[in-house]
This record gives sequence, structure tokens and C-alpha cells, in this order.
Amino acid sequence: MKLQSVELRVADVEKTAEFFEKVWGLTRAGHGKLRGTAGLPYIIGLEQGTPSIRSITFCGSRAEIGKEREVKGPEGETYRFVVETPTAPLPTERDRPIQLSHVVLNSADAAAAERFAVEKLGFKLSDRTRHMHFVRCNRTHHCIAYARGGMSTLNHIAFEVADIDAVMRGIGRMRDAGFTPVWGPGRHGPGNNVFGYFIGPHGGVIEYTSEVQEVGDDYKVGGPEDWKWPPGRTDQWGVSIRDNERIAAAERAYPWQ
Ligand SMILES: [Fe+2]
Repeated sequence: MKLQSVELRVADVEKTAEFFEKVWGLTRAGHGKLRGTAGLPYIIGLEQGTPSIRSITFCGSRAEIGKEREVKGPEGETYRFVVETPTAPLPTERDRPIQLSHVVLNSADAAAAERFAVEKLGFKLSDRTRHMHFVRCNRTHHCIAYARGGMSTLNHIAFEVADIDAVMRGIGRMRDAGFTPVWGPGRHGPGNNVFGYFIGPHGGVIEYTSEVQEVGDDYKVGGPEDWKWPPGRTDQWGVSIRDNERIAAAERAYPWQ
């Protein structure tokens, strides 16, 4: 099973789709949908309205998914499980997002959200830090993380690109288009992935990422004591400053609805 897509309601579908296509590197898939190069029908679904997150969709074979269903989480989240629609991949093109890597949600009660994901969705716990609970649905370190946010909103959506160079060139392309990173480039602790974070014109936080760690059943679940940074640090490299103020405002923009 894998993370397929996130469905959002945005104030301006056309403007948002144009950004995701022309700047971010996705490909239009019709009806407000955009896809990456992987063989998935779409990875971002847009509909017109007051900004909100509508659902997170996972896909897999019939054996993996069983009955297609929609599951409601404890904070109004909607998790959809669908059988994978056979879709031809697009030609691999340097720097274009391949697929979604993960979604992070702000939770009023992140511990309860984690419990729900493990007990009701069947996901596995990978790591806990002081702020985040990381869960996985396959060998990738996390497909969802729950942040202690004191609210139930979208924290960010991460798009997987080919390698560290693609993350860096993506940051450059965004700068060329007038978007400066709000965090990154850097390398995370849990998941060990390289990142660059931006606020899109739709007002939500989006991330280019690569090199997310693959883990097995023997992965030792880390706790807050295992993931401590020295004062002033927020990642492994320490080359970028996190724009906490802008990020905090953008993390309020997409509540569950
Ligand atoms: Fe992320």
C-alpha cells in the first residue's frame, strides 16, 4: 500500500493548478487533478471553495486494500483506501516530482492520532520526537506524521523527487519564480530525508524531498531522547533558518473539513 494523493479545497483552483504545473513540476490530469511521473492517476486533487483538506488517499492492490473504504479519524480526518488504477508512468524527467512522499498533519492530540493510525489503519510506528509521531504504511520511514499542533489542520505535503540535486534545483526553480524557502535546504533527523519547504500561492506548506530512509520490521522505534538537536539547530546540516512565523501561519490555512 502507498500514499496516493491528497484532496484539497482551494480558493482558486486554476491559479493553484497553474502553479503546480508550471513551477512545481506536476502534470495536469484533468478535473482539477495533477499527477507526478509515477504510475498513479493523480497525487493532488483540487476543488473550489474555502481552503481545507478533504482527504488523504492510499492505494494498493485489491489484496492490500480489501474493500475500498473511507475511514474517519478522531479529529475529523478522512482516510480513503482505494484499489490502484493501472496508470502508465510518464517519462522520467529530471527534477519533476515522482509521487507524494508523505503528509504531515497537525493534531490536537497527536498521541491519540498515532494510536488511531496504528490500531485502526494498520500502520506501523517508526519514530516519536518531542513534536512529531511518524507512522509508515510500507518500507518508507513515514507516509504520515502527526505534529503536536494544538489544532487539526494540514501541516504540509511532501513531494518526492529523484535525488538531492533535484531538491536543490527545485529550490532554485522556486526562487526564480519568486518563492524563497521557508525552511531548507536541510536534512531531517527521523527519515534522514533531504528537504526544501515553501508556501505555495494557495497558502499551504509544500516540500520537495528525497532520500527518505527505507526501514524494515526490525527498525527500532526511536523516542524523543533519540532525536535531540543542539541549541539553535533544526536539522542535520544547520545551513538554513526555519521561518517559524510564516510556517505557523500557513499551517493554520488548511483545516479538516
Ligand atoms: Fe516533511
